Amino acid sequence: MSKGNRVSLNILVYAVALASMPLVGFTNEPPTSLDAGIFSKDQAKAGKRLYKQHCKSCHEGSYFKPVLLAWRGEPLSTFFELMTSAMPENDPGSLKHDQYTDILAHILNISGYTRGEKPLNSTTFSAITIDKPASK
Ligand code: HEC
Repeated sequence: MSKGNRVSLNILVYAVALASMPLVGFTNEPPTSLDAGIFSKDQAKAGKRLYKQHCKSCHEGSYFKPVLLAWRGEPLSTFFELMTSAMPENDPGSLKHDQYTDILAHILNISGYTRGEKPLNSTTFSAITIDKPASK
């Protein structure tokens, strides 16, 4: 085998290994729990501002804790899809995907879920099961 071939084979092996890694990071397993520190403090702060503008007129913050408990056992992706397609009720689906994601971080924050270092990543939502915060 010539040197050039070996180099391109190495690149191929590397590309295959990279493609099979989880999307969230190179070392971490993707999260499966809502309480695994899946959102960041800064993101929740950004979400709070958006929440005030788009949701607060109809929902007090305390609305969401029991709602999330009622959703226990369901994938987070299902909840997120409902939220993005049905809310705000007076203008459904009107926000950007990232804005809904930030609002979800705020909702998790005020409902007592654990904060983490990284912001929410919606590509992981289907693997995350809604559960209750361990602290409660
Ligand atoms: C104009 C009023 C209004 C606004 C604004 C609004 N909602 Fe709602 N929302 C409702 C009503 C009405 C319901 C259904 C009430 C119920 O079943 O308790 C609801 C239900 C929900 C539910 C529970 C769904 C379920 O079936 O468990 C979530 C989550 C939710 N809203 C999130 C949001 C978010 C996030 C925003 C802001 C982007 C928002 N809402 C803005 C009126 C509104």
